Amino acid sequence: MATKEYKTVLVEKEDGITWAILNRPEKRNAMNPQLHFDMYDVVTEAEGDPETQVLVITGAGNSWCAGMDLKEFFREGDKNPEFQRQVAWASQEWRWRKLFTFPKPTIAMVNGFCFGGAFSPMIACDFAIASEDALFGLSEVNWGILPGGLVSRVVTDVLSLRDGLYHAMTGDPFDGRKAAEMRLVNYAVPADQLRDETVKLAKKLMEKNPWALRATKQAYKLVRGMDYSQAEDYLAAKGAQIKIQDRESGYDEGIKQFIDDKTYKPGLGPMARVNKDS
Ligand code: ACO
Repeated sequence: MATKEYKTVLVEKEDGITWAILNRPEKRNAMNPQLHFDMYDVVTEAEGDPETQVLVITGAGNSWCAGMDLKEFFREGDKNPEFQRQVAWASQEWRWRKLFTFPKPTIAMVNGFCFGGAFSPMIACDFAIASEDALFGLSEVNWGILPGGLVSRVVTDVLSLRDGLYHAMTGDPFDGRKAAEMRLVNYAVPADQLRDETVKLAKKLMEKNPWALRATKQAYKLVRGMDYSQAEDYLAAKGAQIKIQDRESGYDEGIKQFIDDKTYKPGLGPMARVNKDS
């Protein structure tokens, strides 16, 4: 499938990985209205694109994303509330709803600045890997607003009350190492290893049965809002759904490879995927 061109995002595809690169480096990839509309389209296209097995979001230059565009989204948007509402809708769709429930694995590769509204897509991704020298901050308090959109809500999913409140109330920035220590990201690596580490994780995910992977991430994220009986029933139904949808018959194949063929040990690694292109 040909890669579309966007004004504010570069899309590159290689070996199953789609790289969505926020591309306003001169503005530190701050999210202006065009970027929200572009990213809405990028994520929507990637959802149904068979070439996309893993989606990685990163930024051009020395920034992942410097948050909402203070000039184009806030100052100019305030003068045009109707347009601002449309932008806010697109922004919430791609930054949270679509990314959080994206049917394939997603990785935020945080290569530099990550501020304010950028926390939503970073947390919505299934994984976040940061450069050790990336710089994070809930800077809203520094200019008289609160972490809005969904930021204050989704930060509580990953940070403790103490850490989240500390950073929301002081606005103090912190680096990738600290982000890993607080579990805001999975791990932090030296800048020159960031891409290789991201590709390594993406390849590990691509070895798994995609139907099981999809159901696992959806279920893991959604059960958090359910009580125990709802979760039990939902997980049973979700488990049955995998067997119906899985065109690789992973369940039967996995048992066969372990019990009959003795070709792998499921505790130690994935089975060989068969009928991959069925
Ligand atoms: N909105 C609009 N423009 C921005 C933003 C932003 N969030 N961030 C950076 N820019 C622009 C700057 O205005 C500047 O534009 P100019 O060249 O036309 O003057 C350009 O990007 C480069 O920015 P500098 O500040 O010169 O870059 P530097 O590398 O020194 O600093 C940093 C980078 C730390 C990211 C700084 O730009 C900054 O603090 N940005 C704001 C970060 C922030 O608080 N984001 C949260 C916004 S609120 C929200 O998201 C809800």
